[in-house]
Amino acid sequence: MSNRQYAVMFALLLGSTAIVAPSYAAEQTMQEQSLYHRLGGYDAIAAVTDEFIGRLTSDPQFARFFTSLSTDSKLRLRQLVVDQLCAATGGPCIFSGRTMKQAHKGLGITKAEWDRSAEHLAASLDKFHVGTREKKEVLAAVTTLEPEIVEK
Ligand code: HEM
Repeated sequence: MSNRQYAVMFALLLGSTAIVAPSYAAEQTMQEQSLYHRLGGYDAIAAVTDEFIGRLTSDPQFARFFTSLSTDSKLRLRQLVVDQLCAATGGPCIFSGRTMKQAHKGLGITKAEWDRSAEHLAASLDKFHVGTREKKEVLAAVTTLEPEIVEK
């Protein structure tokens, strides 16, 4: 192919991108956005998780679970929860942790402790003014984990 032919092909490609790009964007906004996007993406999920883990690990009622964890173990736990929430809400993350059953087996978490942790999560979502619909969806998703986490 001659240089001129290459130039024409390049111009055609550029032109088609310019035509395709706006219609693709329009199509995306017409589609229902994922919960991940509606929450505000990765940074918003990380902020809610930091608040949630901060509340859990500083609550005297949860002292038996977290006082013996090293700072690094807490950071690892925090990152796994971010990844888990990000993946569960349709975000681009991969959760590489254990199953909830494996991670919590033997901790003897009670229903009352579970309910308190749900209150901490709800308060964390409120702190960042997460909308009513999104808050309900996050709490519903996390509630599905209850049978794997609660033992007593
Ligand atoms: C009463 C509530 C909860 C308590 C007391 C609790 C406690 C713990 C503890 C102590 C660990 C560390 C276990 C270990 O490393 O050996 C852990 C791990 C973990 N928890 Fe929970 N948890 C609770 C609820 C939740 C909820 C609601 C979620 C999800 C939103 C969650 C997600 C995780 C994850 C992702 C890990 C790390 C899994 C891994 O190490 O591979 N936990 N939890």
